[in-house]
Amino acid sequence: MSDNSTFKALSAPKGVPDYVPPGSGTFIRVRDEFARQARLAGYQHIELPVFEDTALFARGVGESTDVVTKEMYTFADRGERSVTLRPEGTAGVMRAVIEHNLDRGYLPVKLNYYGPFFRYERPQAGRYRQLQQVGVEAIGVDDPLLDAEVIALADRCYRAVGLSGFRLELTSLGDHTCRPAYREKLQEFLFKLPLDEETRRRAEINPLRVLDDKRPEVQELTAEAPLMLDHLSGPCREHFETVTGTLDDLGVDYVVNPRMVRGLDYYTKTTFEFVHDGLGAQSGIGGGGRYDGLMAQIGGQDLSGIGFGLGVDRTVLALEAEGVELDGAQRRVDVFGVGMGTEASSRMSLLIDALRAAGVSADMSYGGRGLKGAMKGADRAGARFALVLGERELEAGEVAVKDLAEHTQVTVALSAEAVLAAIR
Ligand code: HAM
Repeated sequence: MSDNSTFKALSAPKGVPDYVPPGSGTFIRVRDEFARQARLAGYQHIELPVFEDTALFARGVGESTDVVTKEMYTFADRGERSVTLRPEGTAGVMRAVIEHNLDRGYLPVKLNYYGPFFRYERPQAGRYRQLQQVGVEAIGVDDPLLDAEVIALADRCYRAVGLSGFRLELTSLGDHTCRPAYREKLQEFLFKLPLDEETRRRAEINPLRVLDDKRPEVQELTAEAPLMLDHLSGPCREHFETVTGTLDDLGVDYVVNPRMVRGLDYYTKTTFEFVHDGLGAQSGIGGGGRYDGLMAQIGGQDLSGIGFGLGVDRTVLALEAEGVELDGAQRRVDVFGVGMGTEASSRMSLLIDALRAAGVSADMSYGGRGLKGAMKGADRAGARFALVLGERELEAGEVAVKDLAEHTQVTVALSAEAVLAAIR
């Protein structure tokens, strides 16, 4: 039986976005600009698998996190190995750095990556099951100047695409020298409160997360809770002060949020988040921090690192919320050719090819359309120039160059050089 009408049209899996034109133009521009800024700061591209052994994330991200316990796409492959679609990038970068001995060379190792990540979250506006990040990791040096560099770089990424209505929140989560004692102190405080069963359990497993509880009654109960920032060791405090002082010098605005809690367990010392208020509940457009101990945790040397992940999807939404349009992001080509008749069309295809070879983005009308239909194509492509080759021009060895923005027209010799001169 081959009756196509029996097949229902399929849609993308729930919570998984498609990036289709013309909107995909903005998506690519944002992603590429973030990556370009990272390269400007000396980060080199690393391309990693989208799935890894499940153990990497269990060990790297933390077994008490929602990401690991509830949100991973984990399955057995045909060889009965447990693999997981990467929910984030840092653990995979660490794995690759160790595996390829990058940490045995010059430090810090500075790496940049981008691509899709997968989290089985409840889909809603700005929260997807396949999400896109651009990230950087600077590994192997525990220098507060590097923390400031990473944070300032994230700030610059957003500004470079025209975003301004965001805020940078910053705190220090301490390290193994001061966090355990603080954790105990916090638990002592929390266990005295009339907390519900689930919150109490959270206080046992990850007490810091209770401070991030958004319910007003819990916030009220924990208003006087001890804060990590007041319990930092001397070196951690000094580290944090150098970070904030350097950000001040660099002119990067921030607010210190001592109650900030990140969804991943590996963070130590400097931790930060970029928040945009135009997005509703899913307001985090990017975040990161330092992670002493992560590398050792997944079997490498005991080196520290710091990095960020910027959410490309949410940045695009934030740009929409601010009404920022990236110049030309939805333009398909700069030049659109129109040949009237078979001979002119073939000649036009050679001209278009020569323009492309010269680095000009160009397309042409296909299918023998009339002038009006073909010009619609130029308009749809967002082209700045239309090249029109009719019988008359062909005979005279010329081509008409229409400037669609200025509404002017010149006729030039039918050659790539002459057209290039006319459109520059
Ligand atoms: P994260 O905070 O889990 O950090 O994610 C970074 C960003 O990815 C978020 O701020 C958000 O913009 C975006 N994002 C996360 N989940 C979703 C989702 N379901 N839908 C849409 N966007 C989402 C990390 O992943 C760390 N690996 C960052 C890092 C690098 N820390 C150190 N190095």
